[in-house]
Amino acid sequence: MKVLYAASEALPFMASGGLADVAGSLPQALRRRLVGCRVVMPLYGGIAPELRESMKFITSITVPVAWRRQYCGIFEAKVGGTTYYLLDNEYYFKRDSIYGYYDDGERFAFFARAVLEIIPHIGWKPDIIHCNDWQTALTPVYYQTIYAGRDGYENIRTVFTIHNIQYQGRYGFEILNDVFGIPEDQGYLLEWNGDVNLMKGAIECAHAVTTVSPTYAEEILDPWFSYGLDPILRARSFKLQGILNGIDVKTYDPETDPMILSHYSAEDMAGKAVNKAKLQSEMGLQQLPDVPLTAMVTRLVSHKGLDLVREMLGELMDSTDLQMVVLGSGDAEYEAFFREMADRYPGRMGVRIGFIPQLAHRIYAGSDIFLMPSKTEPCGLSQMVALRYGSIPIVRETGGLRDSVQDSGDGEGNGFTFRNYNAHDMAHAVRRALEGYRNPEGWRILTDRAMRCDNSWSHSAGEYIRMYKSI
Ligand code: GLC
Repeated sequence: MKVLYAASEALPFMASGGLADVAGSLPQALRRRLVGCRVVMPLYGGIAPELRESMKFITSITVPVAWRRQYCGIFEAKVGGTTYYLLDNEYYFKRDSIYGYYDDGERFAFFARAVLEIIPHIGWKPDIIHCNDWQTALTPVYYQTIYAGRDGYENIRTVFTIHNIQYQGRYGFEILNDVFGIPEDQGYLLEWNGDVNLMKGAIECAHAVTTVSPTYAEEILDPWFSYGLDPILRARSFKLQGILNGIDVKTYDPETDPMILSHYSAEDMAGKAVNKAKLQSEMGLQQLPDVPLTAMVTRLVSHKGLDLVREMLGELMDSTDLQMVVLGSGDAEYEAFFREMADRYPGRMGVRIGFIPQLAHRIYAGSDIFLMPSKTEPCGLSQMVALRYGSIPIVRETGGLRDSVQDSGDGEGNGFTFRNYNAHDMAHAVRRALEGYRNPEGWRILTDRAMRCDNSWSHSAGEYIRMYKSI
């Protein structure tokens, strides 16, 4: 079986969120199970020069974007044995950021179409094209409406994965034909509540639709989570399935991670204390080995549950000996809140605004507790990374958090959880974790259990293969 995995970002080339981690690790896991898997993504101007140098030019073609004919250079790179195709068009992709432009719809319509156009030119015909999020949502639509009957495109099956239903690619109906090249009489495929909705089109046209955890697959059938798409998902629920993401256990390994100061493992935890001391000094905290150091590494946006933190953090800081580090960037109001808390609690609260992967690793390695009270979380990767580094997660029971963290209250489990999106419930879970931390023997057992959880891709890669076979 051959799978072409299409994504708008993939490690190691370009990352802005969890999609890049998945696109950088699932294809390798599939290949370990002898499924041919290649990745296709845009060739962004911001890709690091050393990665750029390793790419080989294959050929260039012309890709239709409605009435336009656009240049598309096809480059190939190999990373860890996996083949990546990087599609070049400087007009669309040589920009300062990867998203956020007035013509994103057109940029990714080009990419989604190019994914199909390159097939005769790479000498490799996939059985499955696996698309991800709204940026590649048009690929299944174009396949069904244009390519399915063409020579060289027979019997391809398309899969669409929803990493976050909030971002759907919604546009005014007037650009249906002019930008997306979809004839009026097929507009119904994309039409949703009067808009052109690219994600809706993919849900309609893909042979299978997946999302990144079983719980999220149920949640998005409910209007509270679906951002308006629940009726179409319910109608197409026969082809919807949740498969929990894994993490790249080689990149995230406290025994070998080159980004952390001292290596450690479940058997030998001595190194963790060294990382903690180092993190405390780096973030300007008092170097106290026995206070519970709690961390957040997150985009600072509302669905990450920051309103709960804003409501309770002062009270928790005042009534406990908690230390806290926060790394993230996002909405100004949350950035301001955390900066203010750092001023209010010098030596106990350290805040860094930004997206700094190296520091993120040092935080996983140096912290005792990892807070992730998300309002919604399709999967979430940080809690899995935290588990692996023995930083005990406190999570709200939603999406992939619910599927990867179980409360340890009953003596099993690998973390602390709370159900309702309520600040006091979160604070209660934090207090339970702090209490747990006060019992070193119990904490050691909990940490040991957390670090031994298997969040590698091995199980989920098998589920993807089963799904591919089923279609
Ligand atoms: C999105 C989701 C996140 C998920 C990631 C990878 O970023 O918000 O929950 O882990 O995609 O699937």
